[in-house]
Amino acid sequence: MTEAERAAFWRGKRVLVTGGAGFLGSALCHALAALGARTTALDVMNPDGGANIANLEGASVLLVRGDIRDVELHSLCQEVDVLFNMAAQTSHMGGQKDPVADIAINAVAQVRLIGVMREAAPQATVVHASTRQFYGRPISLPVDEFHPVNPPDANGVSKWAGEQYWLLEQRVLKRPVVSLRLTNCYGPRLRIRDARQTFLGIWIRQVLKDEPFEVWGGEQLRDLTYVDDVVRAFLLAAEAAPQPGVAGRVFNLGGSPPASLLDLAQRLIAANDGQGHYSVKEFPADRAPIDIGSYHADDHAFRAATGWAPLVGLDEGLRRSLDWYRTRLADYT
Ligand SMILES: NC(=O)c1ccc[n+]([C@@H]2O[C@H](COP(=O)([O-])OP(=O)(O)OC[C@H]3O[C@@H](n4cnc5c(N)ncnc54)[C@H](O)[C@@H]3O)[C@@H](O)[C@H]2O)c1
Repeated sequence: MTEAERAAFWRGKRVLVTGGAGFLGSALCHALAALGARTTALDVMNPDGGANIANLEGASVLLVRGDIRDVELHSLCQEVDVLFNMAAQTSHMGGQKDPVADIAINAVAQVRLIGVMREAAPQATVVHASTRQFYGRPISLPVDEFHPVNPPDANGVSKWAGEQYWLLEQRVLKRPVVSLRLTNCYGPRLRIRDARQTFLGIWIRQVLKDEPFEVWGGEQLRDLTYVDDVVRAFLLAAEAAPQPGVAGRVFNLGGSPPASLLDLAQRLIAANDGQGHYSVKEFPADRAPIDIGSYHADDHAFRAATGWAPLVGLDEGLRRSLDWYRTRLADYT
């Protein structure tokens, strides 16, 4: 699809983005608004997650505050063309502490949303934000979609269940559904106040405040996806979802070539003109049992199905992220 064709595809489309004030949801909202889609963001604005009112600044999007567990969903879903389903309890430690709330959002409320979508928007395409987390500690690298599912924590169980309910909608009712299993994503609008949304959030904050950050372990490999590449992946997934061979599929989404945490720490400092320092610490004992070790995705299937490839390299993505936050630290720390 050319850019003009993409704009024509999205212009006037009714789109609902759950979790639309969060990191990835808000980035998607900005892109959708720019493409002329009529976009509603639904978000509970939970202070423990990535929601931030500043995330939607400048986007022509309707923000509805509500909890997918109990908000009146029917009018929000009525005749939508596309649902981007980003809302989730995303904290791994949070899921361990309160697995009932975790599964209530990530699985039970998904079934509720599915029921309403059947009535209010039976033809709509759904792109569901899923996670690499439930593969657990990889038995081999890179990890493709056939890797066994072995959730290391409650959040992995609930996210896997939620995804499976959405896939049933395609299998049973032929709704165009695609699930993208994301790896660590980063970039503008990521929560950087603390380490709740990836280690990179707190690293960025510390570097910009000229304070040391901690690297836990250091040898673990990670692949990172820059937010603009994530957004493009979701748009491509929605555009391709009705096609045979795409509908009902789960796809891993990777990004930059794998790098160790130590390498990432050094590249973040280099992206900050050499300014910044860190110390290496042992992995905290309370997190070690749910740590997945090294991970990087085999995302050939998604690339082949949609033509997606990451466009923003790691060093460039780190530079762009730092530049973005430099003038916005008051809103994000
Ligand atoms: N960012 C990543 O690296 C990453 C990696 C793997 C998977 N994911 C998945 O991508 C999706 C988006 O993640 P994100 O990084 O943007 O997280 P985020 O926390 O920034 O966004 C999630 C949003 O959902 C909202 N939300 C949570 N519970 C809700 C509820 N009950 N009702 C309505 N809204 C609710 C939050 O307020 C938040 O704004 C999630 O489903 C997450 O599991 C993200």
